[in-house]
Amino acid sequence: MLTVAVLISGAGSNLRALLDAAAEPDYPARIVVVGADREADGFAHAEEYGIPAFLVPWVQFATREEWGAELGAQLAVWQPDLVVLSGLMRLLPATLVDEWAPRIINTHPAYLPEFPGAHGVRDALAAGASQTGASVIIVDNGVDSGPILAQERVPVLTGDDEASLHERIKPVERRLLIDVVRRIAIGDLDLNAVASTAP
Ligand code: GAR
Repeated sequence: MLTVAVLISGAGSNLRALLDAAAEPDYPARIVVVGADREADGFAHAEEYGIPAFLVPWVQFATREEWGAELGAQLAVWQPDLVVLSGLMRLLPATLVDEWAPRIINTHPAYLPEFPGAHGVRDALAAGASQTGASVIIVDNGVDSGPILAQERVPVLTGDDEASLHERIKPVERRLLIDVVRRIAIGDLDLNAVASTAP
């Protein structure tokens, strides 16, 4: 059974989908802890499932490195096989990424390498793109630049705003994330192999 830590910043709708999937008896992964950089609404999903949670408040640390060190200490308590960034809106410090790589993955609401960063949906709309997408990647020390594990196109529709487009992307993200975690758990997707063959 693959053990997973999920890190969030917001509503945690993708976390919720993963928790629902992991509650199925035949799903080969379990979420052991949920962490966040702020008082995230998504903690409610962890509570509902009786999953432990931890908060490492970004605002209480002077530097990214100090914040990341505490995040790493919390993760070390739970020793997950995999860390999923599911809407964590902070870049991790390189020391933490290097310690865990390639076992940190991230979901992103765009078809990477298109529209990386904190505003993937907004940037796709601003660019006038006719299609965008969803991606699941291995986290490296760049901004959404790691090896791509799964991705799928989502059309931009006439009249879309950031909210409507994001709401159409999120179900795709959830499906990709649930499938990627499942494939990692059953050995169908080898993160070390993907990372070592990345350009
Ligand atoms: C998701 O769409 C996730 O891909 C995005 O934040 C949303 C979180 O939603 N993450 C990023 O944009 C990271 N660059 P949720 O809290 O409802 O799961």
